[in-house]
Amino acid sequence: MTIDIITVLPELLESPLNHSIMKRAQDKGLLTVRTHNLRQWALNKYGQVDDYQYGGGAGMVMMCEPLANAIEALQQLTTYDEIIYMTPDGGQFNQKTANKLSMQQNLLIICGHYKGIDQRIRDHFVTMEISIGDYVLSGGELAAAMVVDAIGRLLPGVLNDETSALFDSYQDGLLAPPVYTRPAEFRGWPVPAELLTGNPKIIDQWRQEKSEEITKQKRPDLLAE
Ligand code: ADE
Repeated sequence: MTIDIITVLPELLESPLNHSIMKRAQDKGLLTVRTHNLRQWALNKYGQVDDYQYGGGAGMVMMCEPLANAIEALQQLTTYDEIIYMTPDGGQFNQKTANKLSMQQNLLIICGHYKGIDQRIRDHFVTMEISIGDYVLSGGELAAAMVVDAIGRLLPGVLNDETSALFDSYQDGLLAPPVYTRPAEFRGWPVPAELLTGNPKIIDQWRQEKSEEITKQKRPDLLAE
């Protein structure tokens, strides 16, 4: 899968996408992430990509022309399944969306800054708008990094144990069960006996019950869905 990202701050994406599992995904050739500095398509030598908003009001708006030129230049090289705009007024990102996007070949992500991007780019180029939550970040980069991470780890072959994403929280609509590691007793606090039985049936049943119990306790809304 290839993910192109248009941004005015490529530096913000470098570290989160070049370590750990995302690094492994790219080293293995399963994921290609390319950041493109919007200033390459700036209107003038000052690197201008934003301007005051019509109608007045504080905050700058990212202009149509640099964005349209950037998108069209990238479209010359790649056909995108989705052109995604990161924005707090987009659809709420969740595991279902991550699963769906992980099955695509080519994605283009646009990171907004300042007051956001000119509405005409949203109307005429963007095919999907994603929010990572009901709060406002200073730009779309950190949100984009989260989305790329959530998608990237789902690509076949990325995780060491291929089945491990299957047991993530949300993957089956439930939160994940608690996990324990050695020692079997710490400060008088024991690991649940079921996990020490070595019996897969007992262990699976315990995990399923715990998942349901925890989901009911912490996120009853997931069960209602
Ligand atoms: N840009 C700023 N805030 C955001 C959010 N909550 N989700 C996605 N992109 C954003």
